[in-house]
Amino acid sequence: MKSFRFAAAALAASALGAFAAAPAGDAARGRALYMKNMCYTCHGTVGQGGERGSGPRITPHPFPWEAFVQAVRRPREAMPRYAPEFVSDQELADIHAYLESIKPGRKASEIPLLND
Ligand code: HEC
Repeated sequence: MKSFRFAAAALAASALGAFAAAPAGDAARGRALYMKNMCYTCHGTVGQGGERGSGPRITPHPFPWEAFVQAVRRPREAMPRYAPEFVSDQELADIHAYLESIKPGRKASEIPLLND
């Protein structure tokens, strides 16, 4: 029980560490890292969601930093876990900046071809 409490405390502390502050991210570097780390294979190259439900849509309006870190470091179900040894917090911040740089497409009502 004691060791369980210790593990829980350590986990909480490491989670808090990750939540402390979002490092400033670089969207161009983030795009390269998003490709290199294979995020695109499940979420699509612009985060639009993957084929046949391989991964949910994660843009536009990606999760805020804390929830994003949580989703990548401790995925809920089928997504592989990306530990800090493989994708650092700085790299995650770059990926987050890339996802934030992706703006929503135009509304159907603003596309002339769809309104003929
Ligand atoms: C093998 C497929 C796969 C890969 C590769 C993958 N993901 Fe995911 N991702 C998923 C699935 C499936 C979920 C839904 C939650 C779950 O099943 O764990 C998810 C959930 C997420 C979420 C939370 C969105 C939500 O609505 O639940 C974020 C953010 C995310 N992924 C980002 C990333 C990033 C960033 C990378 C690359 C570093 C990545 N994913 C790589 C499959 C993948």
